[in-house]
Amino acid sequence: MESKEWYYSLGDQTFMVSTKPEHISHDFIQASFSDPVMYWAKPISSENLRTMLENSCFLGLYLTSPDPLPRSKSTAKDLDPAAPLQPPCVFIQIGMARLVTDYMTLAFLTDVFVVPEHQGKGLGQWMIQCVKELTDAMPGLRRVMFMAKNAPHAVKFYEELLHAQIHDQEKGKVVFMSSRDAQVDS
Ligand SMILES: CC(C)(COP(=O)(O)OP(=O)(O)OC[C@H]1O[C@@H](n2cnc3c(N)ncnc32)[C@H](O)[C@@H]1OP(=O)(O)O)[C@@H](O)C(=O)NCCC(=O)NCCS
Repeated sequence: MESKEWYYSLGDQTFMVSTKPEHISHDFIQASFSDPVMYWAKPISSENLRTMLENSCFLGLYLTSPDPLPRSKSTAKDLDPAAPLQPPCVFIQIGMARLVTDYMTLAFLTDVFVVPEHQGKGLGQWMIQCVKELTDAMPGLRRVMFMAKNAPHAVKFYEELLHAQIHDQEKGKVVFMSSRDAQVDS
């Protein structure tokens, strides 16, 4: 699948979600994997991390610095949403989401994370909308699957954003599935 980038401005800050491998910070991923909030993950060897990334569709969430496009001063006419940000630009990784997928029929969503200092700004929801755009573009998509905490806020988050339904639940976790075609059983 071709790499994709999305931009989101909040006040004077511009955020980017990108599937481009060159922006990914391996140190950020390892630190996140060792954070107790990512209770399902743990740091892995550099080699295993490279293998994981090579076989995943990884969405990095970045704070761009300095803001290369003074968007608040631009008119809609000046702004080409497809245009890449102009250098010099530094991408500071602040979150991620990962799809393990064949890019065609199935996708497993995991490792959804936004650093605490940027939580509650809508970035997690925006990142999941980016995930949905990717899975919606998969021609033969049957299922998007993922697990989450069995907590009302987490359930609401995924039900609303991915139109997902709880498929199974056990030990405080729920297994979600969303499908393009409600008739699909496998
Ligand atoms: C889940 C998470 C990515 C949301 O990111 P965010 O940038 O704060 O999300 P937004 O600002 O777009 O939206 C906040 C909403 O997410 C909801 N949410 C969903 N799952 C959540 C979770 N596990 N922890 C906290 N909030 C969560 C909140 O209830 C809030 O809903 P509200 O706006 O109705 O109050 C972030 O809280 C996080 O990284 N948590 C730790 C890791 C984690 O639990 N990942 C998800 C595993 S299923």
